[in-house]
Amino acid sequence: MTTPFVEANGARIPAIGLGTWDLRERTCVRMVEQALRLGYRMIDTAEMYGNEREVGEGLRAFGIPRARVFVTTKVWPDHLAPRELERATKESLAKLKLSEVDLLLIHWPNPRIPLADTIGALCRMKREGFARHIGVSNFTVDLIAEAVKLSTEPLVTDQIEWHPFIDQTKVVEACRSSGLSVTAYSPLARGRVLSDETLRRIGVRHGKTAGQVGLRYLIQRGAIVIPRSSRPEGLAANFAIFDFELTPAEMTEIARLAHPRGRIVDWSGAPDWD
Ligand SMILES: NC(=O)c1ccc[n+]([C@@H]2O[C@H](COP(=O)([O-])OP(=O)(O)OC[C@H]3O[C@@H](n4cnc5c(N)ncnc54)[C@H](OP(=O)(O)O)[C@@H]3O)[C@@H](O)[C@H]2O)c1
Repeated sequence: MTTPFVEANGARIPAIGLGTWDLRERTCVRMVEQALRLGYRMIDTAEMYGNEREVGEGLRAFGIPRARVFVTTKVWPDHLAPRELERATKESLAKLKLSEVDLLLIHWPNPRIPLADTIGALCRMKREGFARHIGVSNFTVDLIAEAVKLSTEPLVTDQIEWHPFIDQTKVVEACRSSGLSVTAYSPLARGRVLSDETLRRIGVRHGKTAGQVGLRYLIQRGAIVIPRSSRPEGLAANFAIFDFELTPAEMTEIARLAHPRGRIVDWSGAPDWD
């Protein structure tokens, strides 16, 4: 089965990818290989996950032609000064054993380093052929506007926490108006989506689980989703979301699950921009 794509500022990004945070060693290699076998065509990793070697090994174990898989990695906020960003990117590529990634992201903003410097270095990575596309992660509405203004190359995504328990409408609108896609991380709210009663009830109507309903909701909102699983059955379940459609009434009901304390990824250690 071919997955749908999301188009954004010249990039064509598979609508579902495998998230790999916390997938380690042989589990990571096996899950990447198994995901590709199931039809996933995007893998999301990061310098910080410490598994780029294993992601690369999984890609080679399956033997997929390079042009048919979309690989994203991210630069950690400690490495956003231009020289550091270049070094970190080249190290990521060496670990992945790739000559370029499809998407290179700033993992988190770092207010101690001028954004203009970081964006300049990110653009250079694209121009010099180390990244086909560039983007950001954990950027707020104001930061997106600033980054877009500073960038001489198109930014193609903002990767943010998004699942039915969090309202990201403002960031999503900011991305849309500048042509960026939104990539939803922790789309299963680290498993909490699976036990939600509303999602479960809607799922029964469609012969789907609460998790599949939650992921489908994000897809119908135009997101790219990157669920993680360390089990082949989890990978398969998360991929089986393209053969049913939620009604407008169901979409509205799911949107009502969002609440102010719905965020699960801790921002307390994140740099304060205000
Ligand atoms: N840019 C950023 O700052 C950032 C931050 C966080 C995450 N991310 C990215 O987003 C990816 C996904 O987010 P996440 O890893 O935080 O969490 P997630 O994908 O929302 O949830 C993963 C959890 O859900 C469980 N799960 C997955 N599929 C399941 C299924 N079909 N049935 C039952 N349980 C299931 C997994 O357990 P099992 O392993 O047992 O299936 C795991 O405990 C990450 O891996 C990473 O690539 C990016």
